[in-house]
Amino acid sequence: METLLLQNTPQDIARAGKILRGGGLVAIPTETVYGLAANALDGAAVAKIFIAKGRPQDNPLIVHISHLSQWERLVDHIPENAMALAREFWPGPLTIILPKSDLIPDEVSAGLATVAVRFPSMRTTRRIIDAAGVPLAAPSANLSGSPSPTCARHTMDDMRGRIEAVLDGGECNFGVESTVVTLATPVPRLLRPGAVTPEELREVLGELTIDDAVLGKLKEGVKAASPGMKYKHYSPKAEITIVKGKLEQFLRFIAAEKEHAPDVKAFALCFDGEETAVPLPCVTYGRQDDPLTQSHRLFTALRELDEHGAAIVYARCPSTEGVGMAVYNRLLRAAGFHVVLAE
Ligand code: TXA
Ligand code: MG
Repeated sequence: METLLLQNTPQDIARAGKILRGGGLVAIPTETVYGLAANALDGAAVAKIFIAKGRPQDNPLIVHISHLSQWERLVDHIPENAMALAREFWPGPLTIILPKSDLIPDEVSAGLATVAVRFPSMRTTRRIIDAAGVPLAAPSANLSGSPSPTCARHTMDDMRGRIEAVLDGGECNFGVESTVVTLATPVPRLLRPGAVTPEELREVLGELTIDDAVLGKLKEGVKAASPGMKYKHYSPKAEITIVKGKLEQFLRFIAAEKEHAPDVKAFALCFDGEETAVPLPCVTYGRQDDPLTQSHRLFTALRELDEHGAAIVYARCPSTEGVGMAVYNRLLRAAGFHVVLAE
């Protein structure tokens, strides 16, 4: 199939809406990453998302709404703490999981009794949902296992020939996926960190537990609370090692590694301004003291490393404070949990 590249104009948004209403797939911009959207109430349309992405069938999707009033029909009921989160963080990069209503097809919830809902803040996203006239199920628009796309070009690279259209809404503001919190557990639980931080959630919820899989590797035999967390993710072709320590220690570490294997195509994934100090070709991912610049850049940096043909990548380790937790969580998965201490 030929994949149309649509622009951010009223005509093209109407066209995207029409494709979605008709059961087709359109990749759409959001403030986090590009999403691969289908009519969330149409099981057959949603099933095509799994084929286009090569996504495992047991990994549920997020349903996107453009008005708060659409939420009610998608869930069993909305408890007071969920409403409090919505008031504080919606529209925005927060996904809330609650027990689902009968309207949600099994394809969306992947057989779970719950549904994840998000009300995006990007105006273009909301206009597309309005044009479709239905809530949209949308995972990130990458091929399963690859870094999520944060611009139309990366989305096209992964989805060309697989879906009806990509709508170009420019670069995503945050660059990592939404924060996912479940309220379907006795105590609210953070399943995926994002731009809305655990500290901000605690201020509204009072209590919040952080799922073990957020900062570590899921243990053998433990059932994932969020099925997506058990899969290898955000993975470039290069083998990534996260090197914990100060810049000098990082430099000493890569010098020693280079001596062992002088012929490998090694790259550094470092912070802005460090290129001059690092004796390897560098790709940068934002400022060391500013996690929002890191989240904005990380997935693009991972794709760039592949474009350069990097075989091995030594990555500077971000702080896990605030939005840094989301950056570290994604980098950790991209590195297949390979972290070394250079301290
Ligand atoms: O920012 C985002 O959230 C982007 C944009 C497009 O909105 N979407 C996104 O979707 O990242 P996806 O499918 O790539 O990630 C959704 C995550 C997966 O880890 C999935 O397992 C989890 O949310 N999830 C979805 N529904 C769930 C549910 N009912 N229970 C537990 N986890 C769920
Ligand atoms: Mg994804």
